[in-house]
Amino acid sequence: METGFNILKLSFCLSIVVVGSSAAQVPAPWTPSNGMRPGTCDHYECPTSKLVEAGYAYEIRLYNTAVWISTGPISATSMTQATKTGFQRLFSYIQGKNKDKVKMNMTAPVITQQATPGQSVYTVSFYIPKKNQQNPPQADDLHVQPWKPTYVAVRQFGGYVSDDAAKKEAAALMDSLKGTQWILPIEKSKGKSPAYLVADYNPIFQTTARVNEILVPFTI
Ligand SMILES: *[C@@H]1O[C@H](CO)[C@@H](O)[C@H](O)[C@H]1NC(C)=O
Repeated sequence: METGFNILKLSFCLSIVVVGSSAAQVPAPWTPSNGMRPGTCDHYECPTSKLVEAGYAYEIRLYNTAVWISTGPISATSMTQATKTGFQRLFSYIQGKNKDKVKMNMTAPVITQQATPGQSVYTVSFYIPKKNQQNPPQADDLHVQPWKPTYVAVRQFGGYVSDDAAKKEAAALMDSLKGTQWILPIEKSKGKSPAYLVADYNPIFQTTARVNEILVPFTI
């Protein structure tokens, strides 16, 4: 009797262990940010968007029209290397290295995207502060671009961005969109839009509470 009880207790404990360990393999539930933007946006101006849907492990946003400035294609050994090179150019731009010698405030995020599919060539973009959007200064090798209102599927992730992390998070975002109404317009937009953009929100010296995003733009 005593033994029977112990076995029962043991099997109960085992089942908890099994449930516990299988739960550990399932990706941690992702808390939708419900329109909460990365903390960086409390300090730096960020482009504005409307939250369309806070889904499970994804978010759909509609970005408002905004003026961005982009580098030309940068050939680099990795995406993260391209981000560094591109950011240096864009940082000089806001520090006054432009045709009007205008200084601008830092904004977030810095966006990196592949310029040519399958090649290690990237463009890096920076959101121009609202104050300067009417009259953005030009600069050699940089392109001022008005971005139309754009639907974007978003997934946030922490830490420092690596090429591998970006690839993995982009795949996880696409997984989380399976079976939703968004997958069709996203598939249809393929080719027109780059596969995904990587948004870096934090300065390199910030070691904790880093927030990055994978953005998949699409039209509906
Ligand atoms: C930067 O932002 C601050 C605070 O909003 C503002 O007072 C200042 O004029 C801005 N500087 C530039 C160069 O736009």
